[in-house]
Amino acid sequence: HVVAVVNGPNLGRLGVREPEVYGHLDLEALRGDCEAWAGQVGLKADVRQTDDEAEMIRWMHRAVDEGTPVVMNPAAFTHYSYGLADAAAQVTDAGLPLMEVHISNPSARESFRRHSVISPVATGTITGLGFFGYHLAIEAVAHLLEG
Ligand code: DQA
Repeated sequence: HVVAVVNGPNLGRLGVREPEVYGHLDLEALRGDCEAWAGQVGLKADVRQTDDEAEMIRWMHRAVDEGTPVVMNPAAFTHYSYGLADAAAQVTDAGLPLMEVHISNPSARESFRRHSVISPVATGTITGLGFFGYHLAIEAVAHLLEG
């Protein structure tokens, strides 16, 4: 089973962008971690990043068509993209797990980060644990696929 690990805008800048918030490790390090964590639970992680809302939406359509569970860090799209929320809803409506992950704890930051349009349509949300949140989300996907 493949799990799509999709990352939204500016997450290609991990390691460079606000390291005090997002840490010093880059997207390649996150990719390696996710591949290892997925392997531990018998999954294959397909780790992707885009700054393009349309591409992220297309990835959700593809996940539905291919029956692929999703781990998603929607980044700033979290807070305003009803287009992505509608696409994410199709994933969970299809009975597929969709775990929302945030590296930081958005609720502890600027007020515009307190609202997620993705959370209401996600299976669950993990925030504030750094890259380890992806580990938990991948484990959650494996657990949900078993049940
Ligand atoms: C983020 C939190 C968002 O508010 C922000 O726009 C991001 C990253 C996180 O992983 O903590 O780009 O999703």
